[in-house]
Amino acid sequence: MKKLKVMTIFGTRPEAIKMAPLVKKLQEAEGIDSILCVTAQHREMLDMVLNLFELQPDYDLNIMQHGQTISDITVKVLKGMEQILQETKPDIILVHGDTTTTFVAALAAFYQQIPVGHVEAGLRSGNIYSPYPEEMNRRLTGSLANLHFAPTEGNYKNLVKEDIQEKNIYITGNTVIDALLQVVKKDYLFEDPRLNKIDYENKKVLLMTCHRRENWGEPMKNIFEAVVEITQKHKDVEVVFPVHLNPSIRSLAKEIMGETKAMHLIEPLDYEPFANLLNKAHLILTDSGGIQEEAPALGKPILVMRTETERPEAVEAGTVKVVGVEKEAIIKEVDKLLLNSKDYLHMANAVNPYGDGRACERIITALKYHLGLSQEVPESFSTI
Ligand code: UD1
Ligand code: UDP
Repeated sequence: MKKLKVMTIFGTRPEAIKMAPLVKKLQEAEGIDSILCVTAQHREMLDMVLNLFELQPDYDLNIMQHGQTISDITVKVLKGMEQILQETKPDIILVHGDTTTTFVAALAAFYQQIPVGHVEAGLRSGNIYSPYPEEMNRRLTGSLANLHFAPTEGNYKNLVKEDIQEKNIYITGNTVIDALLQVVKKDYLFEDPRLNKIDYENKKVLLMTCHRRENWGEPMKNIFEAVVEITQKHKDVEVVFPVHLNPSIRSLAKEIMGETKAMHLIEPLDYEPFANLLNKAHLILTDSGGIQEEAPALGKPILVMRTETERPEAVEAGTVKVVGVEKEAIIKEVDKLLLNSKDYLHMANAVNPYGDGRACERIITALKYHLGLSQEVPESFSTI
């Protein structure tokens, strides 16, 4: 029987982390011919994930350039994908989430009338400028997609509200939990001796990340100044900040935080050490999307330095708090968690609203069922 040609396309670190376990499973799946195409919207940060999961792309557009704009990415991905799609003619493409690679790869497939499966579909913040441009990227990808893999029931409901047909939506859980469970280990030792030297028992380790476009400029300055002030106020705090490779973020981080003794400004970490650092940290400060899903699973309180989130489930569960981007507000919330153990313990609950480690399995079952390759009806992910 002819195999189903499934092409997975991604370009940045978070997409790679969340799609890698799916690609591994697609490669093993009966009846499926799995093709991997990367745009390399990110280069080094993408390659780190490809190496960790031992993935070899069949196609690599290699588009990244320093100082790239959203339009640069759009043009290069659209043109590059046109040729690859014409050459390979997949039965379906799979894209993930909300990056510009995601939206434009889906658009390129639509232009060739190739069906699109959208993994991590249906998350909505309700504000098209936050996260920017991700909220719009995700909505546009949803409009282009034929098949929607919604991580949670809330995501499913968002899609139904937008008139997406229920029969085309599957609730699968988030593949990030599949990835996380593969890399977090008890008694993990880092390769970087600086990370092993940190006294995780007696110090309060704050792990931070910050990169969002809507935070560039004043908000990011506020965030960095808040963190410096926190280290000055709390002598038992050490901050680890693996700094994103975007040059403008790096120069601001160095300028504001470079001289602070309790700060470790380090290079982006491979996913395995990063996930294990999440597991050892006391508190997480972030504007990232994926980390809002991973840290709750590890029982770590997270303060989200954004004005809204498209991931309300862990906020409802009490593990995540959206604190905005004002300096005083960030300091106040961190103070509360550092000084009041009741507040801290209230947030430090291991909850798993986003997945159970079986999302990839459900996506493949749904894919086969939907495309007539199997009669097995996919079950939905549920937290109940
Ligand atoms: C992109 C995504 C964002 C996602 C983030 C994850 C868009 C518009 N943005 O934002 O949704 O949350 O990735 O990290 O799709 N760089 C390197 N090496 C790398 C990666 C980046 O040097 O491996 C530098 C380059 O100078 C590049 C810059 O970072 O021009 C920005 O990369 P880009 O993908 O445009 O934006 P991100 O902020 O990373
Ligand atoms: N991450 C990583 N190394 C780091 C920082 C983050 O592997 O130094 C992982 C993190 O665990 C999460 C993902 O990268 O899975 C988040 O990526 P990012 O914050 O770049 O993007 P977002 O999730 O905001 O789109």
